[in-house]
Amino acid sequence: MPGQKGLFISLEGIDGSGKSTQSRRLADWLRGQGRDPVLTREPGGAPGAEDIRRLLVEGDPDRWSPETEILLFTAARRDHLERTIRPALEEGHDVVTDRFADSTRVYQGATRGDLRGLVDQIHEDAIGMEPDLTLILDMDPAIALERGLARQSGEDRFEDFGLPFQQKLRAGFLALAQDYPDRCRVIDANTDPDTIAARISETVAFHLG
Ligand code: TMP
Repeated sequence: MPGQKGLFISLEGIDGSGKSTQSRRLADWLRGQGRDPVLTREPGGAPGAEDIRRLLVEGDPDRWSPETEILLFTAARRDHLERTIRPALEEGHDVVTDRFADSTRVYQGATRGDLRGLVDQIHEDAIGMEPDLTLILDMDPAIALERGLARQSGEDRFEDFGLPFQQKLRAGFLALAQDYPDRCRVIDANTDPDTIAARISETVAFHLG
């Protein structure tokens, strides 16, 4: 991105894979390195985008078609980009986001029909940027789903599609890592949070050189 001074990092993975905890821990680790990160999330990360989030994560699984979801997630992302991500990167902050466009590529693009072409086309026109580094937290979908549903967050619309959906998501994220080998790193997340956090900070430290 022209004018970008900070590092843009996204964390991706299936529901219940520990991204939110690890995003927080990564931001803490960056602070410990003397950096000044902005921690954010999708869908959301700006007031308007958080309003759109509620439409997307609550209610019946068939509330929206995948095509409508692509448009809503992209609208939320555009607001997030304009109001939070771009200003922070320009001011020299690193940005750590819990999900970005790869979630749309996988959740909307690769699970309920092949809509990846549509996702990429809309992304190119409306967003047009990728993270510098994407950490994909990979874990057993059955354990992750149990953990996600146990939270009873009221935001279970995607968990309610069930285990086969989460298995497709996992395969989708692993395929994506192969599509974008320069920026994607797969982190084995089938272990305790401290070990995962150490794997993530090692990967980011390597990236920072
Ligand atoms: P979260 O639980 O990680 O906060 O994300 C909310 C849900 O939204 C999660 O089930 C994944 C889903 N999602 C998509 O389907 N497409 C997207 O582009 C994003 C950002 C999230």
